[in-house]
Amino acid sequence: MITTTGLTKVYASRGREVTALDGVDLHVREGEVFGVIGQSGAGKSSLIRCVNLLERPTSGTVTVDGVDLTALAGRGPRAGKELRAARSRIGMVFQHFNLLSSRTVQGNIELPLEILGVSGRERSRKALELLDLVGLADKAKAYPGQLSGGQKQRVGIARALAGDPKVLLSDEATSALDPETTRSILQLLRDLNQQLGLTVLLITHEMDVVKTICDSAALMKRGRVVETGTVAELLATPGSELAAELFPVTGRATGPGGTVIDVTFQGEAAGRPVISQLSRTYNIDISILGAAMDTVGGRQIGRMRIELPGPYEENVVPIGFLREQGLQVDHVEYADEAEPADAPAQTPALVKESAK
Ligand SMILES: Nc1ncnc2c1ncn2[C@@H]1O[C@H](COP(=O)(O)OP(=O)(O)O)[C@@H](O)[C@H]1O
Ligand SMILES: [Mg+2]
Repeated sequence: MITTTGLTKVYASRGREVTALDGVDLHVREGEVFGVIGQSGAGKSSLIRCVNLLERPTSGTVTVDGVDLTALAGRGPRAGKELRAARSRIGMVFQHFNLLSSRTVQGNIELPLEILGVSGRERSRKALELLDLVGLADKAKAYPGQLSGGQKQRVGIARALAGDPKVLLSDEATSALDPETTRSILQLLRDLNQQLGLTVLLITHEMDVVKTICDSAALMKRGRVVETGTVAELLATPGSELAAELFPVTGRATGPGGTVIDVTFQGEAAGRPVISQLSRTYNIDISILGAAMDTVGGRQIGRMRIELPGPYEENVVPIGFLREQGLQVDHVEYADEAEPADAPAQTPALVKESAK
């Protein structure tokens, strides 16, 4: 539904060049909620502004719903007719809502319809329908100043849906909201995704947002996408930084000499007694250092950090046994091998190795 190829964006500011996007290839499938996560300055907002051509990319292409937007003329507010038409099919939600304080809630939602030349009666019908959809049917005549942050964002979402978009772009839509309101807004986005078949590309710096509603995710660093995939694929990727953050598991080795591994269970593997089978089959004692079950992107996932006696080389066969059961196994190596139990609590580096 959204594809970017070799997308770059270089800003020229005060005689200096800033490369905000450095060859981004992104693929968002129709009907999915796709999260782009990264620290401040990673290039997330530049990416989303290039996707709807509010910002003209320096090079590369952007295709949305089969239309190559980069081939259409104009930029920013001077976009040509075709680009404006294509853009009206892309809704955009902002962190700071960007509502007009002098207009009622209904007036704010009608604004994009006025620009599209929709008649007064039809505008009003559409605005009230959208208000109902976002749960604010009774606020049509209120002004933005009379609403809570969560209600303002609901208005922002309703306005973004005015042109019946197939794609919704969201730049930090929940970053200005408290945790409970964040949850309700994320739930609304999920409902709209499912009810309307809306494809959602959302940008966030909060891992919880990705965890709550995303089907797929990408990690951005310094203008590049360094990891991408469905949540299940990421969790099955050895050494994936996103997977480790989506699903952290902690626990320190009991002492030197053992082998610490993280075992990830997905789907039906979560129900099998693999740890007791492992212990019985190889007659080894297994220490459980940490464990968690959670729902990530709507899937039940389990992760366990365990310790096997002896060095890694002696545990190749038991680890192979776990992988044959369809489990993801990551070998955890501590920075300070000599005294793992006393080392300061830090995330140990996961060793990259080919799985299964
Ligand atoms: N209009 C602009 N002019 C110059 N530099 C910009 C502009 N917009 C963003 N940048 C720079 O591009 C980089 C990426 O910014 P941005 O896309 O806003 O990242 P993020 O949304 O991940 O915080 C940063 O170094 C930022 O300072
Ligand atoms: Mg940003």
